[in-house]
Amino acid sequence: MSDFPMTWQLGDRSVNRVGYGAMQLAGPGVFGPPKDRDQAIAVLREAVASGVNHIDTCDYYGPHVTNQILREALQPYPDDLVLVTKVGARRDENGAWLPAFSPDEIESAVHDNLRNLGLETIHAVNLRVMGDGGHGLSEGTIAPQFERLARLREQGLIRHLGISNATATQIEEARSIAPVACVQNHYNLAHRDDDALIDTLAEAGIAYVPFFPLGGFSPLQSGVLDQVAKQLNATPMQVALAWLLQRAPNILLIPGTSSVAHLRENLAVRDLRLPADAVAALDAIAG
Ligand SMILES: NC(=O)c1ccc[n+]([C@@H]2O[C@H](COP(=O)([O-])OP(=O)(O)OC[C@H]3O[C@@H](n4cnc5c(N)ncnc54)[C@H](OP(=O)(O)O)[C@@H]3O)[C@@H](O)[C@H]2O)c1
Repeated sequence: MSDFPMTWQLGDRSVNRVGYGAMQLAGPGVFGPPKDRDQAIAVLREAVASGVNHIDTCDYYGPHVTNQILREALQPYPDDLVLVTKVGARRDENGAWLPAFSPDEIESAVHDNLRNLGLETIHAVNLRVMGDGGHGLSEGTIAPQFERLARLREQGLIRHLGISNATATQIEEARSIAPVACVQNHYNLAHRDDDALIDTLAEAGIAYVPFFPLGGFSPLQSGVLDQVAKQLNATPMQVALAWLLQRAPNILLIPGTSSVAHLRENLAVRDLRLPADAVAALDAIAG
């Protein structure tokens, strides 16, 4: 069995590699209030009590709902808790996801996050490139937006900058403007376009935070995954997370869940190690 570090730097802080993504705490379609607000609060409190010190959020989840629940559940925030948000989109009155990508919209979204989270400074803000409007990538300069974030960082509102849903060229452009502490792109066992990028970022000490680690709105499904899970007496979702942990040391997990039971399963992957033959079988899924 291989072993690997269980913490990685996110800017100037070392965080536990198994974190939490707060998107599932809003209502259906990430819109409006959750069905069970008490459960949402319980998930967050248990996550933090169980050692999660990196939470990914966003003010357009709800909108505002997720940040407000985070604030209610966790304030006063523990000293070691790192909160990371993203800016670049907004929701309309029907819940559609729309770009909000002008520099002024970016700045105003940073203030929305600070206000709803109850913070004067946030640990990190990702510029979420809207690309095709969804989860696809598209090239194009991000300089005006990233320069505005860099200015807000100089003003002390943001400690570190990141970029999300970005191409390698856009990440390089961002790095030429200001230091990049984290990259948050779509990546999981079955979606491995960023393989080379992850290794390049690891060499540069930059955290890579995969969104949809469990497949997101289309949960991962694979006979191989089921088989490996059965052999290891784990669930397929646990194996998918364990695979990410062993894939590269700079991968920080932010699986999303609205359920305390799933949260416990996800945190248990800290103790799950995949034998080499399981890794080889899982590696072949994307091939
Ligand atoms: N930058 C971006 O563009 C972007 C895009 C999407 C997401 N994100 C971030 O990435 C985080 C993770 O992504 P995600 O939440 O969309 O997708 P995900 O973590 O891949 O999957 C979440 C889904 O898996 C289910 N789930 C979680 N744990 C499970 C378990 N142990 N067993 C079975 N099902 C389980 C959840 O349902 P239950 O609630 O029932 O557990 C939910 O339906 C988000 O929370 C968000 O912070 C960022």
